[in-house]
Amino acid sequence: MVEQFAFTVDVKSVANKQIPCHPEQKMLDAFLRRGEWIPNSCNQGTCGTCKVKVLSGTVAHPPTPDSVLSYQEQEEGFVLTCQSVPTSDVVIAVPAADKPSSTGHLLRDMTATVLQMQTTATDTLTISVGIDEPLEFSAGQYVELAIPGTNDVRQYSMANPPSQSNVLEFHIRRQPGGLATDAWIFDSLTAGDAINLTGPWGDFVYDDDDDETGMILLAGGTGLAPLKSIALHALTVNPQREIHLYHGVRRSADLYDVEFWESLARNYSGVRYVPCVSREHWSGRTGYVGDAMLADFDSCRNYSGYLCGPPAMVDAGVKAFKRKRMSARRIRREKYTPAPALINA
Ligand code: FES
Repeated sequence: MVEQFAFTVDVKSVANKQIPCHPEQKMLDAFLRRGEWIPNSCNQGTCGTCKVKVLSGTVAHPPTPDSVLSYQEQEEGFVLTCQSVPTSDVVIAVPAADKPSSTGHLLRDMTATVLQMQTTATDTLTISVGIDEPLEFSAGQYVELAIPGTNDVRQYSMANPPSQSNVLEFHIRRQPGGLATDAWIFDSLTAGDAINLTGPWGDFVYDDDDDETGMILLAGGTGLAPLKSIALHALTVNPQREIHLYHGVRRSADLYDVEFWESLARNYSGVRYVPCVSREHWSGRTGYVGDAMLADFDSCRNYSGYLCGPPAMVDAGVKAFKRKRMSARRIRREKYTPAPALINA
């Protein structure tokens, strides 16, 4: 097999490295399989985090919307490494970015066995899968599940902490008409089935630099999954850690893991659990998670914030944190890609 090579320059985290890249292999995939970090998040060409500048050589890539890479950036030679395949030896420069302190795990392919599938809320499953070789990952990262019979994948964050590396937990919400959920996971997947995974992916991770601060976690729907991993990991590091978890859903029937969080709050004095329902009145907090947080805190100056969920929820939550003076460098976020973009029915 003829290998093509992408050469990197001018990056503090991956300076002057030569990374072999197989034909048809995306540059980001090649980097992460070698344990070389490049900023990345969605691996779908929608966030722009993985952009690099091609200094010489050629790459093939699908059209990039200017909402992701501006027209000027594209003119200047910027491409998305998660979408670009080298068609010659290339030299790239990666924009300087702060490397999360806890990334750098080798990306790899795995086969897992479904151990348990449990309906935990309306149209929501919690699935546990076992893998033979432990997966090294950072709390907050995700894997891609290959949809059988297709070339498509779907992304699900680990809800388990990294210390539990042989059994992975995923929270999966049904997407009506979804190729992965309606046509596979909710339809025919069952305990004992084998599934193929690739991971870990993503820069939305627990940051060791924040070990001393209190944490405020804002989750929307199954955005709870990576925040569960982050909270459990943080408590492993420091059982006294102050953690406020706000979980937002539309209706009370959409809430899940309630007993788990209530029990965590009973057993760890620093943990506080606040479920929020936005579309119906019920016995608990009503409204959006960002508004609930705003009402509860006079200042977020000494806290770090983690948000995961639909884009509107994350954007509103970030604004709320900033209103309460949380430092921008302590805000970490992951937006779920809107479902219609993922459906190939
Ligand atoms: S656009 Fe490449 S990681 Fe998001």
